[in-house]
Amino acid sequence: MHALLNRIPAGGSMETAPAFDLHKNDPRSRLIVALDVSTAAAAQKIVAAVGDSALTYKVGMQLYTAEGPGVVRDLVASGRKVFLDLKYHDIPNTVQSAVREAAQLGVSMLTVHASGGGKMLRAAVEGARSKADLIILAVTVLTSLDQAGLNESGIEGSVEDQAQRMARLAASCGCQGIVSSAKEAPALRAQLGPDFVIVTPGIRPAGSAHGDQARVVTPAEAIAAGASHIVVGRPITEAANPAAAARAILDQMAN
Ligand code: C5P
Repeated sequence: MHALLNRIPAGGSMETAPAFDLHKNDPRSRLIVALDVSTAAAAQKIVAAVGDSALTYKVGMQLYTAEGPGVVRDLVASGRKVFLDLKYHDIPNTVQSAVREAAQLGVSMLTVHASGGGKMLRAAVEGARSKADLIILAVTVLTSLDQAGLNESGIEGSVEDQAQRMARLAASCGCQGIVSSAKEAPALRAQLGPDFVIVTPGIRPAGSAHGDQARVVTPAEAIAAGASHIVVGRPITEAANPAAAARAILDQMAN
């Protein structure tokens, strides 16, 4: 099943995959499509339908648990970039070893929990050494955690303060980016400077269904808030025409 992905070039239906010559201004380099499905076949269908309207795909716990590293290898082999969203949180040695394996798989971005602490974050960065362009993203505070949930876990202070503290820690340990809600992005961008990667999920193009996302922003709002990348799932993957949906989002980002 996995091998099927190899046959879909990132440029669409051509025989050979085009070489990517990404320009910084290409909005496609800032769009990440979430492959929240359970089979390589379903993932393959989405990737084929999106064609060259997106370059980066997020493989999270669901698809990775169901299909394993083969799905990542196949995406990479077919010319796509992979954001491996497994949110590592373990002792430093284990995280470093896992990041080293992810680097071998050829992923371009991966997530760790900032709350794993400085030693763990530095170990993650160390594990990525073999792949200079691998971006380690730290999850500051899960956006599903509200004030009460944060306090319940023993952390005093506001969600915003905790997100800023975790972001500072991540940056000081050499992580190149964080995952944050668009709501927190402006303060984090001001704090972390123009080059830090800020990945923002919870995106809905104007007029589209919110699904289970409570606080959503449009692609343009996320970029204006300081996001360097946006993660979009269902508005693209469940669209009647995923390529057109992705292109509409790229237009909104560019504007
Ligand atoms: O389909 P949708 O656009 O809501 O998908 C969003 C993706 O971003 C999902 O993969 C989800 O797990 C992820 N995500 C999120 N909110 C967060 C962190 C991650 O929606 N706070």
